[in-house]
Amino acid sequence: MPDRNDDLELFAVTAPGLEALCAAELARLGIAAAVEPGGVAWSGSLAELYAANLELRTATRVLVRVGEFDARSFSELERHARRLAWERFVGRRGRAVTLRVTSRRSKLYHERAIAQRVLEAIDRQAGPLGPSKAGGGSEEEDAASGAAGATEDPDAQLFVVRFLRDRCTISADASGLPLHRRGYRQAVAKAPLRETLAAAMLLGSGWPADVPLLDPLCGSGTLAIEGALLGRRIAPGLAAAGGTPRGYAFEAWADFDAGVWEELVGHARDAVLPAAGIPIHASDRDTGAIEAARANAARAGVLDDITFEARALSAVEAPGPAGWLVTNPPYGQRVGEQTPLRDLYAALGNLARRRLAGWTLALLSADRRLDAQLGVRLDEVLRTSNGGIPVRLMVGRVDELRS
Ligand SMILES: C[S@@+](CC[C@H](N)C(=O)[O-])C[C@H]1O[C@@H](n2cnc3c(N)ncnc32)[C@H](O)[C@@H]1O
Repeated sequence: MPDRNDDLELFAVTAPGLEALCAAELARLGIAAAVEPGGVAWSGSLAELYAANLELRTATRVLVRVGEFDARSFSELERHARRLAWERFVGRRGRAVTLRVTSRRSKLYHERAIAQRVLEAIDRQAGPLGPSKAGGGSEEEDAASGAAGATEDPDAQLFVVRFLRDRCTISADASGLPLHRRGYRQAVAKAPLRETLAAAMLLGSGWPADVPLLDPLCGSGTLAIEGALLGRRIAPGLAAAGGTPRGYAFEAWADFDAGVWEELVGHARDAVLPAAGIPIHASDRDTGAIEAARANAARAGVLDDITFEARALSAVEAPGPAGWLVTNPPYGQRVGEQTPLRDLYAALGNLARRRLAGWTLALLSADRRLDAQLGVRLDEVLRTSNGGIPVRLMVGRVDELRS
């Protein structure tokens, strides 16, 4: 059984493009991690595993390596899989298991057949299992297609099985529900932004968390709420239910160390500031969205840190002499949406140049032609995807309107 030494192979999964931001977050926790496509890897302790789950704002989930071996036949796969320490993760008898299998450039390519062999190995050692299931693909693909992901059952233990060039890597998911499910966002307006992407926009834009923040197209309030959480130093895992941590898969593991966990949660609670201390303004013309945003902020414990207003973009005022406007404007994918959107982007540019000179503008963009309507020079900071659509985080300083 692992102790608190650095004997766990850990991997924080991120959306593509957010890896470096996640590595920077880990560095602030004192953890040096290597950036890889789709996440960041490091060797760490149980305490680091728990801290990553509680504190990371940009990671989707945290995995622990269960085993790694070469397998070119099903009998090899079975032999290796039977030797792995499944009981540690499926300690409770009857616990359901879900498997997410991918295979690339490998002799064993039939993902369902791989899953079936691995499930049998788990069942032999730690069964009988509850209703278990297996699927292919990734979290991002599940989210984009809207398909029921392998994480549907929040009590099931998820294992990620990856074959690449006949090398099989098996990992156990320590998070349970994906980490963007902080617990505060139960009311949603149209096209809500994932909490992890909202946090990535704030961190990636360079917002220093002690200058005013404005989102004039706030929808269900995700950017403002994530901003308030950063400003108050509230760990994302404490951002609901009055500061009680959301549940994690690792709490059901045989080696769960409640003492280590409670100490970390205690430190996270002690770090919380009583107020953000800076103006955070969020508005939207849709009164229903503002109601949803307020309810979400209340659940996150940051309602008093944010000024919410139902108002159109054209009526927005500067909440201070300098700050960051960070927003996620609508981007149309269908024919006929372009003209009103061009007007909306022009109105956003006018607001910035007439009332927010000296501010920094950061937005999530899917269409360069719409960005051109802003009249503000923007640089690309990162590329990722939002609900399956490729998007870029664009950031620039607003100059005064000269005319
Ligand atoms: C893509 S959504 C923002 C989603 C938000 N980031 C969230 O997490 O829920 C864009 C928002 O812009 C708002 N909006 C569109 N045109 C507007 C305008 N002219 N003035 C104010 N709000 C507007 C819509 O009501 C919508 O809530």
